[in-house]
Amino acid sequence: MNINILGIPMDLGAGRRGVDMGPSALRNAQLCQRLCELGHQVKDLGDVPVALPETIDKFSGSGLDFRDPILEAGRATVERLRGLPDGVFPITIGGDHSIAIGTVAGNALRGSAEGHRMGLIWVDAHTDFNTPEISPSGNIHGMPVAQLCGLGDADLASLAGDWRLDPRDIVMIGIRSVDPKEAALVREHGIKIYTMKDVDQLGMTRIAEEALEYLSGVDRLHVSYDADALDPSVTPGTGTPIPGGLSYREGHLLMELLCESGRVTSLDIVEVNPILDDKNKTAEVMVAMAASLLGLRIL
Ligand code: ARG
Ligand code: MN
Ligand code: MN
Ligand code: MN
Repeated sequence: MNINILGIPMDLGAGRRGVDMGPSALRNAQLCQRLCELGHQVKDLGDVPVALPETIDKFSGSGLDFRDPILEAGRATVERLRGLPDGVFPITIGGDHSIAIGTVAGNALRGSAEGHRMGLIWVDAHTDFNTPEISPSGNIHGMPVAQLCGLGDADLASLAGDWRLDPRDIVMIGIRSVDPKEAALVREHGIKIYTMKDVDQLGMTRIAEEALEYLSGVDRLHVSYDADALDPSVTPGTGTPIPGGLSYREGHLLMELLCESGRVTSLDIVEVNPILDDKNKTAEVMVAMAASLLGLRIL
């Protein structure tokens, strides 16, 4: 397979600094080499330009913190992804989770002006379904899924042109931290959610099977993998850690089963923060997760 890596060194959507160094940490953890060893052809496209917070006005634009520079990086992301040739599998590496507005939009719009029917598997401790009105933090990395469905800030939503993600084409796995108004909004939109309780009770095999069946009608399938989906003992280097997360094996098993399905068409790896990490352990774990999703069956 032809894999293209695109870095988005973004920390403007998060409440803590340092996640902008995620792309370096993931490259340092041998992302390209690991995928090459699996027999893929891998090309690193470098990074999308992202403004430095020291050089810009936090309150520019709509009153939402750093909305304008996040919008600008999102536009650049959509343009880079849209232009990729058919058959390329893009891996977008963050950066905080606000980058997913651009990555999902760009992948949905690839090769079709009106956009594909895109399924989204959101692997995360959080639902990231806040809007500016209800967000307790104001941080845009807590809002990307709502934005993709057309809620919230109109300019961020229009990164995808007229295309919108259908809430019924979303499956979330690993969820264990949702803000009160966010929970009501998620319920109202009928998003399919597997909480950690579901992971404990049903097991990851059944969840992966159900998720793939639930999304059987989509023609593209994007996986957005937040490092905080995993337990903080596995991935300590992340800005909003929540105890009681996926084990190392549960995270891998999900990727292995998705790999076996042959249906995933693009991947994000986000929220790796080297400042908070222990000797780049989190980046190494997330590179291993990507390798499981893109692994060849050898046994
Ligand atoms: N729900 C919280 C908020 O909206 C935390 C979001 C964390 N998101 C993330 N991508 N790590 O601020
Ligand atoms: Mn997230
Ligand atoms: Mn999260
Ligand atoms: Mn709307």
